[in-house]
Amino acid sequence: MNLKITLLPGDGIGPEVTKAAVKVLNYVAQKFDVATELISKDFGGVSIDNFGIPLTEETLQVCYKSNAVLLGAVGGHQWENLEHQKKPEAGLLKLRKNLGLFANIRPAKVYSSFLDASSLKNDVIEDTDFIVLRELTGGIYFGEPRGYNKSKGWNTMVYSENEVERIAHLAFKMAKDRNKKVTSVDKANVLEVSQFWRNVVQNIHQDYPDIQLENMYVDNAAMQIVRNPKQFDVILTSNIFGDILSDIAGMITGSLGMLPSASLGEKHALYEPVHGSAPDIAGQNAANPIAAIASVAMMLHHTFQMTKAAEILDEAIERTLKTGLRTTDIFKEQYKLASTTEMTDAIIENFEEIYNEQALGVFTL
Ligand code: IPM
Ligand code: MN
Repeated sequence: MNLKITLLPGDGIGPEVTKAAVKVLNYVAQKFDVATELISKDFGGVSIDNFGIPLTEETLQVCYKSNAVLLGAVGGHQWENLEHQKKPEAGLLKLRKNLGLFANIRPAKVYSSFLDASSLKNDVIEDTDFIVLRELTGGIYFGEPRGYNKSKGWNTMVYSENEVERIAHLAFKMAKDRNKKVTSVDKANVLEVSQFWRNVVQNIHQDYPDIQLENMYVDNAAMQIVRNPKQFDVILTSNIFGDILSDIAGMITGSLGMLPSASLGEKHALYEPVHGSAPDIAGQNAANPIAAIASVAMMLHHTFQMTKAAEILDEAIERTLKTGLRTTDIFKEQYKLASTTEMTDAIIENFEEIYNEQALGVFTL
């Protein structure tokens, strides 16, 4: 098997964390006897600088031809004042839409050695393990009409039956392999589009009698995530609500620098850290590579079905954190400060260690 992957390192710390993730990916691939075929392309601000637009047709074509896309981060101050459609962010939205990536999975899981990093109390977040499943190619992000003039600005939040159905099916399927609970988050007390969403989700639920479905208003959900995050298993929600709730959920782990994400469609898949491009620390070998490396683990799992490799990689991250290594974003004085490359190498070493332990386990059976 060849792992054919398009790399879109992007802007700010994107290239550094992507480089870290690629180092880990190549290492894991070699351990599991598979080859990687990597093509790197400009995307976001760097593409605007070189080609005038955030996503070129050529880059898009390369993405179409690969098994998966690994993205770093996009955006930065120098592109902030560009017209809406010319911003780096517009490239990301176009990429998601064109690759048909309708499902965005953002896990909110607490690493056990990491309880003290969150601003929330230990007993509130301990054992928290849920995912935000965000609809990614519809809703108010893409709805027409949209625009602004001197006297007003407008957007449209619209969902079709098919759009809600396919993400709802995925939510129930994911819950099947987890704790069998889906919380669908909407604003059905105010928005017609949400009432429609709720009706469709309830309909699809009939196909999954062993899964519990709960409906929750988004304002309440935001509160519940910080009040009692353990109550959640799969949070199913629309594009904009998922954008907001996944940032809130991110703080359970203490740093956005830890959170990976997967964006999946019928044919394509894209993996990226939840964090942004952090231009203030770019180029200093200081960025936290864990979100990017954990995104590789999600890629191994979802695109390449290399479940064992993904598991070992997740465990290697956990073990590295247990040894007390911390990048600046998560550093406190009792820990050992690590650079991006030191953290990456430590994760690779721990991967090797766990890999060897497990191989030995098989041998002694
Ligand atoms: C995210 C980001 C993007 C979004 C931006 C950069 C377009 O905030 O992936 O959560 O709003 O989807
Ligand atoms: Mn966001």
